Amino acid sequence: MKLRIAALSGSLRKESYTTKLIKAFQKLAPEDITVDIIPIGDLPHINQDLEDDLPETVKNFHQQLEQIDGILLATPEYNRSYSPVIKNALDWGSRPQGKNKWAQKPAIVVGCTPYTLGAFGAQHHLRQVLVYLDVYPLQQPEFYLTNTAEKFDNQGNLTDKETEALIKKVWESFVIYANKLQK
Ligand code: FNR
Repeated sequence: MKLRIAALSGSLRKESYTTKLIKAFQKLAPEDITVDIIPIGDLPHINQDLEDDLPETVKNFHQQLEQIDGILLATPEYNRSYSPVIKNALDWGSRPQGKNKWAQKPAIVVGCTPYTLGAFGAQHHLRQVLVYLDVYPLQQPEFYLTNTAEKFDNQGNLTDKETEALIKKVWESFVIYANKLQK
């Protein structure tokens, strides 16, 4: 089964480890999976006044979401929660009311941190919001990447073999999961 996945990074930082992580997921994706990294930093702040005449950036974002089969959400941890950049993108994708573009899509939730908890708090806040958006996040394996500075080289390539193996395992599980959901 071919699947088209939208990958969203919750960090806008040029040297973001979160963005490096989604690039590693993109590189290690199985043959039948296409991963499109969708930029979300230019979306305006969510504002219901804009819904009467949606900005082009939001219209483009909605069009991109209409073509996808699943989502990869990668978040840093900010004050024990997930990135407001991701929240803003999720909010825009859920509008206008009654036209939630995320509904019934399978998802992968991952997070990373330069410290030792692997964005645990961030990921579980994010998973809570996905319940309301009717998204189906893969439950296992979970993915908490710690000590990020040691896991990538200067060019941003993932060098850690254990993480590479876990990413492959996540993709393997996701394909089985997405197949089950389509039945
Ligand atoms: C952080 N950082 C952080 N890290 C963490 O593990 N738990 C946390 O609660 C926080 N809180 C936090 C708040 C704010 C406002 C900032 C700016 C940063 C550190 C952060 O996770 C770290 O800088 C990451 O490297 C950010 O991800 P990117 O940009 O590398 O993808």
